[in-house]
Amino acid sequence: MTATQSYKFGTKAIHVGSEPDPSTGAVIPAISLSTTFAQTSPAQPIGVYEYSRSQNPNRHNLERAVAALENGKYGLAFSSGSATTAVVLQSLAQGSHAISFGDVYGGTHRYFTKVANAHGVKTDFTNDLVNDLPKMLTKETKLVWIESPSNPTLSVLDISKIAEIIKAYKTANNVEDLFLVVDNTFLSPYIQNPLNLGADVVVHSGTKYINGHSDVVIGLLATNNEVLNEKFTFLQNAIGAIPSPFDSWLAHRGLKTLHLRARAASETALKIAKYLADSEYVDAVNYPGLPTHKNYEVVLKQHRDALGGGMISFRIKGGAQSAAKFTSETKLFTLAESLGGIESLIEVPAVMTHAGIPEEARQASGVYDNLVRMSVGIEDADDLLADIEQALKSSAN
Ligand SMILES: Cc1ncc(COP(=O)(O)O)c(C=O)c1O
Repeated sequence: MTATQSYKFGTKAIHVGSEPDPSTGAVIPAISLSTTFAQTSPAQPIGVYEYSRSQNPNRHNLERAVAALENGKYGLAFSSGSATTAVVLQSLAQGSHAISFGDVYGGTHRYFTKVANAHGVKTDFTNDLVNDLPKMLTKETKLVWIESPSNPTLSVLDISKIAEIIKAYKTANNVEDLFLVVDNTFLSPYIQNPLNLGADVVVHSGTKYINGHSDVVIGLLATNNEVLNEKFTFLQNAIGAIPSPFDSWLAHRGLKTLHLRARAASETALKIAKYLADSEYVDAVNYPGLPTHKNYEVVLKQHRDALGGGMISFRIKGGAQSAAKFTSETKLFTLAESLGGIESLIEVPAVMTHAGIPEEARQASGVYDNLVRMSVGIEDADDLLADIEQALKSSAN
């Protein structure tokens, strides 16, 4: 499919990277398991592929589709969201400084503090990025990393504002090699496109909304920056943390319904968030789609149709004990880590996804012991609401 920029999201999701096979007419691309590709004479491959770690037809199709959905020129796929993070951070030279939002995915925090630091990359964290950023930038700073909405407190950062601060700093100090990365896992490209807001790179745990069916671990990134794309492509091949053809094919199939899934999950999540906000068993609800959200102004300009996404977190009355009981009592919400699938999941970040973050830092970013995180799936809203109601009642007894 050419002229991809002129099509709307759903059309791009279904057609980019999914052209009928010219040799068989197959409407759906075959899974190409071959690890190597024939050449007519030395260094003259028959087609564009040589060796499957460097590039593979299914991965290539997926990468093209993700680039199109994020309005990027380039897309790259990795074996997990974490491998994507690793490649981005590995692209920094020794002695580089990075700045990260404090409330990032626990594994990202872990990579900054336990892996990147061992390679001579020092990271400073802040929970007030917009205000602190100008003071934190130094001549060694090469990367600013944010997540919006953040995990699991769902605070929303003004991406354009952060991009502007960085741009002004780069112009004033004649700096070129400083880039802004946005982890867009929580919203998916259907709801938010960080590259349009001034980010240099957008990354995803494709394990979540992009694949959407909780059956593939995969990572993705998109960028318009040719220099960065070259570095990441080099590292993708050199490190070799690539997804298999089957996983690439599955994630590509999942992505074709992203617009339907993301909208349905957002609509149900809004109903649930409203219900929780009115519940006597709940202290506070974090949901970007609620007009009471502290950054709703930003949501209105940054999210498609002010959709809030499928993720909600809330503080349940009764502390850690109630959180444990409630999350064990739900029948449709499965108690499990991860998010972004067709099925609803529930978890307690303090003892599950975010247990690795020291307690003080965890609480400073709002991850209290009674915080419950929900990934709202695309089941019928009434059934999900009834499930929450019964579990809240029984956890209060
Ligand atoms: C926001 C976010 N980024 C990155 C990751 C890492 O992705 P993966 O589990 O695919 O390695 C996760 C995983 O939960 C995540 O939630």
